[in-house]
Amino acid sequence: MIDNELTRIIRERRSIRKYRQEQITEEQLQTLLECGFLAPSGGNSQNWHITVVQSKDFLDKLSAANREHVLADKDLPQAIKNRFSQSGFSVAFGAPTVLFISAAGSDVNACFLAEHIVLAAESLGLGTCYLGGIMGFLRSEEGKSFIDEMDLPDGYEPLFGITVGIPDEKPDAKPRDYTKVNYLR
Ligand SMILES: Cc1cc2nc3c(=O)[nH]c(=O)nc-3n(C[C@H](O)[C@H](O)[C@H](O)COP(=O)(O)O)c2cc1C
Repeated sequence: MIDNELTRIIRERRSIRKYRQEQITEEQLQTLLECGFLAPSGGNSQNWHITVVQSKDFLDKLSAANREHVLADKDLPQAIKNRFSQSGFSVAFGAPTVLFISAAGSDVNACFLAEHIVLAAESLGLGTCYLGGIMGFLRSEEGKSFIDEMDLPDGYEPLFGITVGIPDEKPDAKPRDYTKVNYLR
């Protein structure tokens, strides 16, 4: 792989599931948002929306409600339930900021916006982790009030969250399969 600043950032990014408590700076936040909005979108439709959540109260309530929802699921393996039962469990891994990404219609453009944000965060020394698992709860009857609180524009549906904060761990790289490619040339 050619070594340059961007390829190094891509190579070194990991999903971070342990954060320091300090909030990211406003300048860092605005940089991430701007990098997101610079993503390409089909026909420049920009059919995306970001909800910045920096309310500890919101995230604590979301964690508690999500835990109740998970523990009530009879079909879920005990190992997963144990993870949710641990004291201090936070759905956002203790990250002080979560960006919820929403889309109106096709979600593909919002995914590009999200990955711009994730790579920009890595370049600023910040950690991120996508939160897709929580969507099952947010789309349930009990999760509706949290989506209502996000106050999304008409027609927008949340797709996933992205935790953002100062990393408090340095995980090893997960294995990748580099054979998922074929060539016509
Ligand atoms: C759409 C999407 C949803 C994800 N949802 C979760 C999640 O709910 N919880 C979690 O811990 N990690 C989640 N992840 C992170 C993946 O587990 C992670 O990207 C993968 O294991 C590879 O590890 P790496 O990001 O450190 O390279 C998600 C990633 C993506 C792209």
